[in-house]
Amino acid sequence: MAADNFKDWLEELKNRINIVDVVEGYVSLNRKGGKYWACCPFHHEKTPSFSVDETGMYYCFGCHKGGDVISFVQDIEHTDFMGAVSILAAKAGMTVPEFSKKEGGTGISKRKRDRLYSLMREAASFYHKSLVGDAGKAARDYLENRGISRPTLTSFGLGFAPGNALIDRLRDMGYSNDEMLDAGVAGTSKSGRLYDVLGGRLIVPIINNLKQVIAFGGRVLEKGEQPKYRNTKETVIFDKSRELFGQHTIKKAMIEGAVDSVIMVEGYMDVISLYQAGIKNCMASMGTALTVQQARLLKRYADKVYISYDGDFAGQKATMRGLDILYGEGLSVKVVSVPGGKDPDEYVREFGKRGYMDLLSQAKPLFEYKLDKLAENYDLNVAEDRGAYAVEAVKVLYELKNPAQVEAYMDYISAKADIPKPVLVKQYAQGSEAEARPIPRLELTRKTGKYYNAMRFVLYSLFGGQEGVEERDLSQYITDGDHKAIYVEYCRLKSFKEPDLDDLQAMAEQYPEVEEIFREGKRVTEEQAPQVFADCMRSLEREKNRREIIALTKQIDGEKDPVKRDLLLAHYAELTAKNKK
Ligand code: CTP
Ligand code: MN
Repeated sequence: MAADNFKDWLEELKNRINIVDVVEGYVSLNRKGGKYWACCPFHHEKTPSFSVDETGMYYCFGCHKGGDVISFVQDIEHTDFMGAVSILAAKAGMTVPEFSKKEGGTGISKRKRDRLYSLMREAASFYHKSLVGDAGKAARDYLENRGISRPTLTSFGLGFAPGNALIDRLRDMGYSNDEMLDAGVAGTSKSGRLYDVLGGRLIVPIINNLKQVIAFGGRVLEKGEQPKYRNTKETVIFDKSRELFGQHTIKKAMIEGAVDSVIMVEGYMDVISLYQAGIKNCMASMGTALTVQQARLLKRYADKVYISYDGDFAGQKATMRGLDILYGEGLSVKVVSVPGGKDPDEYVREFGKRGYMDLLSQAKPLFEYKLDKLAENYDLNVAEDRGAYAVEAVKVLYELKNPAQVEAYMDYISAKADIPKPVLVKQYAQGSEAEARPIPRLELTRKTGKYYNAMRFVLYSLFGGQEGVEERDLSQYITDGDHKAIYVEYCRLKSFKEPDLDDLQAMAEQYPEVEEIFREGKRVTEEQAPQVFADCMRSLEREKNRREIIALTKQIDGEKDPVKRDLLLAHYAELTAKNKK
């Protein structure tokens, strides 16, 4: 399907959907003065400042979140553009065209993926029924022993896998052997028969942000059996490095009441246990070190993250690197220490919600944690060690992003090592040339979504000398971090000479997005290019307007002078009218 058709399709979707109905699914709205009002679902408040208007936009005068129906769904469902589109499509009774599903890059047809999703849902339901039925007695006893209540078991859709019964069940439902193998629930035995890879285990379904079951974790019921957990393999619908466990429960918690932080734990049982204790903003990394993709996913839920891993995790380099990734993605990171080598599940069971909340309130900011951790290797009562500590501690500060923080932590080190700050500053300056390294450039994940795609195509057109591009002032439109950096760098080069392929190659090394720009850009034929370019510019224009509208609303909100206010309102009307077209 061609891009143009997707656009038409999207237009049709937007026509069929009324933003008021969509928002009403999450909060109840009251009509007043030509707008609909509610308490904002994105921040905590007692009087309504969240508004929805007929133009199809929403805006909160309290937290200044705003946008159209798609961005509303993106925000409230913590999903990306295509995720929001598919939720809305389901509501409107429309099918998302295949074209847009290429985003995942798997080349697997949408039909096939949908079959896997429904297979996984059937499997989850079968496992769950087994747990609550006759076959599940031992697993129920196990859960009871762990203090997991019936409602909790239901909230997480826990299950039990009785032997190989799932295989027959799925076969009866019309799923083929290949489909069971592809979904990861089945394996092939030596004799060639299929078996349930999680047979005999307690089942923890892994559910994504769209409430789809994408994988299962299976725990043994008996102590000592190995391996303790077995998970279904990575499949076309499950990429472990891009998922977090607990998204469906945290989303529910966020809709019920605003949540301003995420608690990251290691295991399924930590999430489940904390949830049961009333701490519902938890997700688990499922035992592996955090990836950039997971950090970005996490950021959709909150800007603050507490890391609450098991006892002595900091010894593991990979874990520490995970924390640096979170920091690199702009999250505020705090580290929770659970005493006595316990994991959060054990701790909350023993000390309850209050006990665990106390630990949270004592969590250390990431760099304080690093500096304290480092200090454990030294005896700070000994002069020699104090000096050695200070040298290493100052190096830690090279990872900080801004000077104000470096300054603040200099004080911290100075007090800790009892070394005057000017000396530390000198030490810092000495090392900084040789050692200073920017926060490591993180592996690239594509920023997807209409506007990013548009920015990339516009850059592609610029690189390729597309007619009419040079005349436009692109700086207003290319506003996103790396894309902007690429644009600025290109302009800088161009002020010397026409950038050639070598220059672009050099840029690609610094900015992996450049490669992406070419990869995507090449898909468009020369004939299509002018049209696609024009479409992209129109998209970016709308996005620019949208941002302006949001900024304006903020301004209007704070403007006391009625004349100025009217002027702003007129501008607002003009922009919203433009964007409605
Ligand atoms: N894990 C895994 N495979 C293993 C061990 C662990 O996938 N063989 C993952 C699971 O997601 C698990 C997490 O790592 O939840 C944390 O492991 P661990 O701390 O060993 O498990 P707990 O969550 O403490 O498990 P439990 O309390 O059930 O013993
Ligand atoms: Mn545990």
